[in-house]
Amino acid sequence: MERRAFLGSLTGPVVAVCAVCMGACSKSSSTSATPGAGGTGPVNVNFTVDLNSNLTTIGSSMVQSGVIIVRLAAGNTPGSFTAVQVACTHEGTSINFNQAANKFICPNHGSTFSTTGAVTLGPAGSSLKAYNITINGSVMTISG
Ligand code: FES
Repeated sequence: MERRAFLGSLTGPVVAVCAVCMGACSKSSSTSATPGAGGTGPVNVNFTVDLNSNLTTIGSSMVQSGVIIVRLAAGNTPGSFTAVQVACTHEGTSINFNQAANKFICPNHGSTFSTTGAVTLGPAGSSLKAYNITINGSVMTISG
């Protein structure tokens, strides 16, 4: 067989092999990019807080089971508190409550959230998950 005839006979299989290789390489590179993982709120939350010994002053906060609870006003009524996920929706850093500004602030990149969890300043693009609050006497239940 002459050289030209030999190379001509390889063209079909070589093209097929290259197509398979390029397909595999393409898949590999497209899955290597990992988007930033935003924090999500825990689900099936259900716990109680004794208000005789916790959250006794306005502006005080506590974190339990991935939820930050803040006393916003006097009195043991649900409207006196807020409860939202503690993990920032941007990249999951724990947020803090700033009483003077009356909002949650993420110390990592500066996102801010209202007391109901709505984004008031990015880079976070989604709201914090808010939880249900019920109070019976001095026992507060957080659920959601
Ligand atoms: S992790 Fe909160 S703003 Fe980036």
